[in-house]
Amino acid sequence: MDLLKKTIEEEGVVLSPSVLKVDGFLNHKIDPILLDEIGKEFAGAFRNLGITKVLTIESGGIVPAFTTALYLNVPVVFAKKAEPSTMRNPKTCRVHSFTKNTDYTICIEQNTIHEGDRVLFIDDFLANGQAYLGIKKLVGDCHARLVASGFCIEKAWQPGHSILKQDGFPFKVLASIRHMSPEEGISWNYDTAETE
Ligand code: G4P
Repeated sequence: MDLLKKTIEEEGVVLSPSVLKVDGFLNHKIDPILLDEIGKEFAGAFRNLGITKVLTIESGGIVPAFTTALYLNVPVVFAKKAEPSTMRNPKTCRVHSFTKNTDYTICIEQNTIHEGDRVLFIDDFLANGQAYLGIKKLVGDCHARLVASGFCIEKAWQPGHSILKQDGFPFKVLASIRHMSPEEGISWNYDTAETE
C-alpha cells in the first residue's frame, strides 16, 4: 500500500535492525486519513469472506481494526491484556512476546465472539506471529472460525510470515519490510506485500 510505505519512509524511525518506530502515525499519534485508507484496503481485500467480527489485541491493533470494521459494517472486538473485574465469563489465552521477552494473557468476554462467527484478525505488526497464534486459539475456544488476517506492517524475516503461510488461511500485509537498519533505511518486499 503506497500511502503506508510513503508514510513509513517519511515518518518512521528505524531504531535497530529489528525495531521500527511508528508512533508518529500508527500506534501513538494517529494519522486518521492513513488509518481510514488502511481500513478501506483491508475491507476491500476481505469483503467476500462473510466476515461477521473483526478481532484485534490492544493497543496497536485497535485503530486499524476499527476502520476495517467500519468499512465491513461489522462489530470490532479487542482482546484485553488485563482481565477487568467486570468481565463475567472471560475466555483467555497466554501469548508469548519475543519482542518484550514476557508472557501475557489476552482475554475477551465470552459472548463477544460466539459460535458461527467468521472472524477477521487485524494487527499493526506481524513479527513473531505469537499474537496470531493466541487469537487463533481464543477464536477456536469460542467455537468460531478465524477466516483471515490482516497486518499493516510485517518484518518478513521474522517467523510470523511463515507461520501464517503454513496455516493456509488468507492474509494480507500492507507493507512488507525485507530488511532495515538505521544506516541503510528500509528495503521493501514488493512481491509479498499483497494478499497471500
Ligand atoms: P507478534 O505480534 O507477531 O506476535 O510478535 P511479537 O511478540 O514480537 O510482538 C510483540 C509486540 O511488539 C506487539 O505489540 C507488536 O505489535 C510489537 N512490535 C513488534 N515489532 C515491532 C516493531 O518493529 N516496532 C514496534 N513499534 N512494535 C513492534 P504489543 O506489545 O502486543 O502491544 P502494543 O504495543 O500494541 O500495545
